[in-house]
Amino acid sequence: MNRGKFITLEGVEGVGKSTNLSYLTDYLAAANIPFVVTREPGGTPLAEEIRAMVLAPRDEPVAPLAELLMVFAARAQHIEQFIVPHLDAGTWVVSDRFTDATYAYQGCGRGIDTAAILELERLVQGAMQPDLTLYLDCPPEIGMARADARAALDRIETAGMDFMNRVRAGYLARISQYPQRFVTIDASVALPQVKAQLIAALDARIGSLL
Ligand code: TMP
Repeated sequence: MNRGKFITLEGVEGVGKSTNLSYLTDYLAAANIPFVVTREPGGTPLAEEIRAMVLAPRDEPVAPLAELLMVFAARAQHIEQFIVPHLDAGTWVVSDRFTDATYAYQGCGRGIDTAAILELERLVQGAMQPDLTLYLDCPPEIGMARADARAALDRIETAGMDFMNRVRAGYLARISQYPQRFVTIDASVALPQVKAQLIAALDARIGSLL
């Protein structure tokens, strides 16, 4: 049996991840590929508890390092209890965010040294990396206007526009570092055009992952 593949979806707030996630899962289902969908932080009961701790608005300032360690604690649990068992069973795993988000949010956003993130990444993941990462790109002003129109903002979403611009720059730096793994989709255009880019990317990439 072939090992499953690991696909991640990334982007700044309000970029349309949920809608594009449904396009992706429709595509995998139509191709008869067995898959599960998950998210980070989260994906197991314990990791979801950590997610709630990370995202809850609170009066007490949260130390960037505490935020980083919580995200990786959730990830360690998610990898061991959910991601790896599914991949081993031949099931593809689609995750709404993964470690690129840590480099973007805690690294560029909060200003934590990349070397510290790399050390935790090695400890928690070993050599494990996504097989494909779909990055939905959009200026934060557009994304945040959409996010504002949704439900109440979580703690990270309230960090402000400068923060979100740094997060986007963090993602773009990751893409230039790992151009093979990423597909960038312009998510600032109308949804049918976003969908068309996503489907074209999947047509080009999924075959080689099978
Ligand atoms: P989302 O599910 O709405 O995308 O929310 C998850 C939030 O958590 C989002 O603001 C990004 C943030 N996040 C980090 O700061 N670091 C991480 O490593 C991950 C996976 C998410």
